[in-house]
Amino acid sequence: MGIIEIRNVTKTYRTGFWGKKRLALKDLSLEIEDGEAFGFLGPNGAGKTTTLKILLGIVQPDSGSATILGKPIKDVSTKSRIGFLPEQPYFYDYLTGKELLEFYAGFFGLSRSERRKRIACLLEAVSLIGSEGIALKKYSKGMLQRIGIAQALINDPDVIFLDEPLSGLDPLGRKEIRDIVLRLKDEGKTIFFCSHFLPDVEMICDRVAILNKGILVAVNNLNELLLEDSEMADIIFKGVSEEGIEEIRRVAIKWLEHENRFQVTLCGEENIMSAIRLIDRYGGRVISVVPQRRGLEELFVKQMQGTKERSDEMACCGI
Ligand SMILES: Nc1ncnc2c1ncn2[C@@H]1O[C@H](COP(=O)(O)OP(=O)(O)OP(=O)(O)O)[C@@H](O)[C@H]1O
Ligand SMILES: [Mg+2]
Repeated sequence: MGIIEIRNVTKTYRTGFWGKKRLALKDLSLEIEDGEAFGFLGPNGAGKTTTLKILLGIVQPDSGSATILGKPIKDVSTKSRIGFLPEQPYFYDYLTGKELLEFYAGFFGLSRSERRKRIACLLEAVSLIGSEGIALKKYSKGMLQRIGIAQALINDPDVIFLDEPLSGLDPLGRKEIRDIVLRLKDEGKTIFFCSHFLPDVEMICDRVAILNKGILVAVNNLNELLLEDSEMADIIFKGVSEEGIEEIRRVAIKWLEHENRFQVTLCGEENIMSAIRLIDRYGGRVISVVPQRRGLEELFVKQMQGTKERSDEMACCGI
């Protein structure tokens, strides 16, 4: 059973004077395993924050259900094991960083000494030692994001929801937050990471789901998703006779030769397989086969086009 399970969740918001319905999520089902770093990707308005709000009990779905740690989302007993960094953390900006953490620690009934230890430990983890006495209104965006993460971890949660933790940060700020998240991953926490900043998801997450206009477009192991439609590969080999070389050259799109080693780039599964067979037939040895990885960005655009084409087809059919 997954640590987070979402079953057929649909959500519409009513907007404007006439209360017109706007679809935010359509029949979403997802399962996230224990200790997984799960990336939830999608462009603006895809429904990522809505999904998080439903999981946290802030928003009610129209239909469907969800469980966290095996309990229905309404169950308050799981709240102490969940941490949440909202998209736009609203902080009482007259408080200092330390006061903010003390404020949140108060919700979890920690003793004074536990609280002190935990706060010191978190300030260290998010590199804010020395800034804990400064009012939040004087914090930079990166510092606010880091204190936000410390706030989300105050109860040492098992499941952490991060809504766009890297948005608005410069490269150094992004790296700092990414390192914190990677450390949490190493500690075995389950991480649900919403983002439209693709390279960071690629760095952190094991599995990703792609959401567009409330519809789940793809969900897969990150490497598999990247490889799924990758039809290019580089093969390095040696020891093939002259005759064999000529034949392999015919199926290759790129060819490199260096000290009796050959590197060929092939396109299409058939060509890749036939090159491997030819290398074997002509007495050669394959040293490596490296599939060419697509960037997540490229993949994302492709998936988006796929959804558009599908919805255009559905519209044509009157669905
Ligand atoms: N409180 C609300 N009232 C009305 N519509 C809403 C509300 N919250 C979200 N929506 C709509 O629901 C859809 C999904 O929004 P949501 O905030 O979940 O997307 P998101 O994927 O988090 O986007 P972003 O990347 O911009 O944060 C959007 O069309 C949005 O306008
Ligand atoms: Mg959002």
